[in-house]
Amino acid sequence: YEAQIDVADMEKGTYEHYMLKEVDEQPAVMRRLVKEYTNEQGELVVDSTITERLNMSDRVYIVACGTSWHAGWVGKQLIEQLAGVPVEVHVASEFAYNMPLISEKPFFIFISQSGETADSRQVLVKVNELGYDSMTMTNVAGSTLSREAIHTMLLHAGPEIAVASTKAYTAQIATLAILAKAAGMASAKVEAEQFDLVHELGLVAAGMERLVGEKDMISSLVKEKLSETRNAFYIGRGLDYFVSMEAALKLKEISYIQAEGFAAGELKHGTIALIEEGTPVIGVITEEETGAHTRGNLKEVESRGASTLVVSMEGLEREGDGIVLPKVHSLLTPLVSVVPIQLIAYYASLQRGLDVDKPRNLAKSVTVE
Ligand code: G6P
Repeated sequence: YEAQIDVADMEKGTYEHYMLKEVDEQPAVMRRLVKEYTNEQGELVVDSTITERLNMSDRVYIVACGTSWHAGWVGKQLIEQLAGVPVEVHVASEFAYNMPLISEKPFFIFISQSGETADSRQVLVKVNELGYDSMTMTNVAGSTLSREAIHTMLLHAGPEIAVASTKAYTAQIATLAILAKAAGMASAKVEAEQFDLVHELGLVAAGMERLVGEKDMISSLVKEKLSETRNAFYIGRGLDYFVSMEAALKLKEISYIQAEGFAAGELKHGTIALIEEGTPVIGVITEEETGAHTRGNLKEVESRGASTLVVSMEGLEREGDGIVLPKVHSLLTPLVSVVPIQLIAYYASLQRGLDVDKPRNLAKSVTVE
């Protein structure tokens, strides 16, 4: 591969921070991905050796770190629902030394924005020694993980400069959706055939555009809810839980607010002891099935003094919800719910006068184990 970097992509232009520019680029990244992975007839195309290998395997192992690991959890849902292959999701640094029993025909997917993360690479080295099939999903063509895995899928997100990952996360989820849909189509799964991903990603891009236009509103919400606090919780169920984990990581990384992403139903089994007067608890609600339960959990913490904020999807919103998301397909909700969450972290950092793009102690790509 030849890495193609557009110089304009590397500059901040009129933006004060790379992070905000990269958040704003997400609708364009969704559209670019559709273009990169469709043919002239507008049909999705993914290298057929990849979809064949995935469909031949009895279990997919997703291995990643940080934000890429969070995208992997969403990928598990997509691959299981659309392609019907079971998926495990692992943190690379644990997998390397605490390897689970591997199935007979595994297929490994390494997700890495940079393609250089040492923790992920050491697993790939072992996977190669064991002779297993592998693919790297990365933003950097020609990166180490791309070169050393058998297959590669590119994220086409353009260079991501801010340490806190934003557009790479949404590109990872969209690319996982493309892979899952293509694999499901190749094995004639009804769920994949009925899922018009190209159309749905168009709706996602339009929805993201609306959300990035709500910056002032989100900035004032942050002033109101997060300006004083030292800690915060995000809660959700299903895909909303996975987004809650990413939400907490974003907030920790750049605002230094101690945050935790929790499965909404699990909070009461211990962690609720941490709720005090004014503790912010942000609920993410995009699933009809579980939304009412999450609302119940928010009531529980409110009655113990928490200051709650609800991010809900159109159709499921109630009066008083802070942020209402445009409606998108139930498998793709993280692509829109994460946008206000990225902006919450951004404004929390900005309002505290911190270095948004280069937070303390962090590096964009970590090449030590
Ligand atoms: C570092 C970055 C994180 C990133 C993680 C994985 O810790 O600070 O933002 O999610 O590495 O990086 P990768 O390039 O493998 O996706």
